[in-house]
Amino acid sequence: MKQPVRIAVTGAAGGISYSLLFKIAAGEVLGSDQPVILQLLEITPAMDALRGVAMELQDCAYPLLQGVVLSDDPTVAFKDADYAFLVGARPRGPGMERKDLLEANAAIFSVQGKALNDVASRQVKVLVVGNPANTNALIAARNAPDLDPTQFTAMTRLDHNRAVGLAANKTGFATPTINRVTIWGNHSVTQVPDLYHADVAGEEAVDAVGEDWYKNTFIETVQKRGAAIIDARGASSSASAAQAAIDHMRDWALGTYEGDWVSMAIPSDGSYGVAKGIIYSFPVRCAFGRYEIVQGLEINDFIAGKMKASEQELIEERDAVASLLPAETEAHL
Ligand code: NAD
Ligand code: LMR
Repeated sequence: MKQPVRIAVTGAAGGISYSLLFKIAAGEVLGSDQPVILQLLEITPAMDALRGVAMELQDCAYPLLQGVVLSDDPTVAFKDADYAFLVGARPRGPGMERKDLLEANAAIFSVQGKALNDVASRQVKVLVVGNPANTNALIAARNAPDLDPTQFTAMTRLDHNRAVGLAANKTGFATPTINRVTIWGNHSVTQVPDLYHADVAGEEAVDAVGEDWYKNTFIETVQKRGAAIIDARGASSSASAAQAAIDHMRDWALGTYEGDWVSMAIPSDGSYGVAKGIIYSFPVRCAFGRYEIVQGLEINDFIAGKMKASEQELIEERDAVASLLPAETEAHL
């Protein structure tokens, strides 16, 4: 039997976690032979609700779940954590853009970055889900000077999965036949869903869906899917966000499929001319617990202009939270 790994989840009594925790405990992130200990963080007023969630976890009698820790103190919840899902944050309501949450949520991520720095495993893998996810990940990373910035990522896998699902729906082919879709940039309305390198059942994806439909319907549908769900449900996406978080962490830990890649928002190393340091979504391949940006893709002018606009938005978000970004250490340059 393997030693258990410690998985921290914040916002653990919230909507996304109500799907996420049960998938983690069932072995969907690290496989059916890997025991886990869940370390759950909430704010003090939500601790009663969190106790209820913990009762339900116990009542599932998961064979892999070896312990559950509940706390309102990040230094307890993050202690020795090997993986951290930072979900806890306020969601947007109708009519808001995700960056409107910057002020409400940014402080959470500086506190949590510091706590991860102080007590988490030195190899911790961090996924920020709480919005605005890219800039929150930047805040957490910059407040964790003893960890490597590449350990901090943000979630654009939901956008990636939305793009795959939409292409499957349009063409009638099953999702596993759709490969090499890319989301570039910010998890916001400026994100760039790119089908130019993708294929559907062996055919170039842009031809399979039709270039007009791709340019005039597909891109905007993926960009605005979060808002469409809020309008329809009266609440932001939950189950699909939890599935995307599972997919992101599983692929980072266990690897991506040969011949495919996934989208992850990660610290830019300057690839494709993107400003260094901002948390920007790139196509990546993962193996042995590491990710690597897919290099050498030809970017046409149509996509390049959109990539620039998303980069610019992230630079503006970074500048808006400058007071929460301590000076960069050598690892962050
Ligand atoms: P929710 O309101 O249902 O739950 C959020 C939970 O976080 C609440 O239980 C709250 O008490 C808790 N919380 C707040 N501050 C906290 C803190 N400092 N420490 C620990 N917990 C804290 O919201 P949700 O639907 O679960 O969404 C959570 C976040 O995820 C939102 O910001 C939402 O916009 C974002 N989101 C991101 C994506 C993505 O693709 N990146 C997708 C969906 C939702
Ligand atoms: C989503 O994409 O569904 C989430 O980021 C929630 C939102 O605010 O759109």
